[in-house]
Amino acid sequence: MAFLEIKNLCAKVGEKQILKNFSLTINEGEIHAIMGPNGSGKSTLSNVIAGHPAYEVTAGSITFKGQDLLAMRADERANSGVFLAFQYPTELPGVGTALFLKTAINAKRKFLGLPDLDAVQFMKRLKTRATALGVTDEMLKRPVNVGFSGGEKKKMETFQMAFLEPDFCILDEMDSGLDIDALRVVANGVNVMHEPHRAFLLITHYQRLLDYIVPDFVHIMVDGKIVQSGDKTLALQLEEKGYENYK
Ligand SMILES: Nc1ncnc2c1ncn2[C@@H]1O[C@H](COP(=O)(O)OP(=O)(O)OP(=O)(O)O)[C@@H](O)[C@H]1O
Ligand SMILES: [Mg+2]
Repeated sequence: MAFLEIKNLCAKVGEKQILKNFSLTINEGEIHAIMGPNGSGKSTLSNVIAGHPAYEVTAGSITFKGQDLLAMRADERANSGVFLAFQYPTELPGVGTALFLKTAINAKRKFLGLPDLDAVQFMKRLKTRATALGVTDEMLKRPVNVGFSGGEKKKMETFQMAFLEPDFCILDEMDSGLDIDALRVVANGVNVMHEPHRAFLLITHYQRLLDYIVPDFVHIMVDGKIVQSGDKTLALQLEEKGYENYK
C-alpha cells in the first residue's frame, strides 16, 4: 500500500478548474520535488491535500496511510500527520507562538490517544527545535509570524514542522526568501527529519534547493498535472532549458 496515493485528482476554485487529472504516488521515506511554471497549480495541490475549504475537489481520490484523506476535515488530516509549510505563511495577531504550538501538539497527541506534553517536555522540545532551525527566543515570544521578515516566516514554518513531527511534509517554496546561510540551516532541519516512516513533497522553482535536499523523484507540473517525472537530473535539465519544451 502506498503511503500517499493521489489518483486523477481534479479541483477547482470558483469556476476555474486548476487540477486536471493529477496523479502521484509517494512511498514512505521518499522525497519528491515538484517544479513547474507559475500558476500551474502547485500551491493548489498543497492546499487540496491539506484540506483548504476554498478548493473544491470535483473528481479523483487521495488516500493517506490507507485512509480516504478527502473525507477528513483539515484538522483531522493535520492530526493524522499531514503538514503544509505555506508558500505565504499567515500572520496570527494575538496568538503567541508557544501557545499555538502547545495547542497544536496536544491536539495531535489527544487524537493519537497520548497524554499532553508537560511543561518541561514542551519547553525542551521547543528550545531544541528552535535552536536547530535558527528561531530565536525573541521570535518565539512574538505572536505567530506577526511582523516577521519573509525569511523569518519561512524559518518559522519549518520550525513548526520540526516541532510537530508530521509524517507527510509538504514544503511549498520553503527556499523563497531565505538567505544563503538560512537555506542551509532549514535544509539541514529537513534532512534531519528524513526518516524511513516519513515522506516529503518539496515544491520549488530552483534546482539549488535540491543540492541541499536530494530528491528521489522530480516531477514537472504544467497546467494542473504532471507532464514528466525523473530523478534529480531532471531539475538540472530544467535549469538549462526552462519550460519551453512543455508548452
Ligand atoms: N482563490 C483563488 N481564486 C482565483 N484563482 C485562484 C485562486 N487560487 C488559485 N487560483 C489560480 O489557480 C492557478 C494556480 O495557482 P497556484 O497558486 O496553485 O499556482 P502555483 O503553481 O503554486 O504558482 P506559483 O509558482 O506562482 O506559486 C493560478 O492561475 C491562480 O491564479
Ligand atoms: Mg505556489
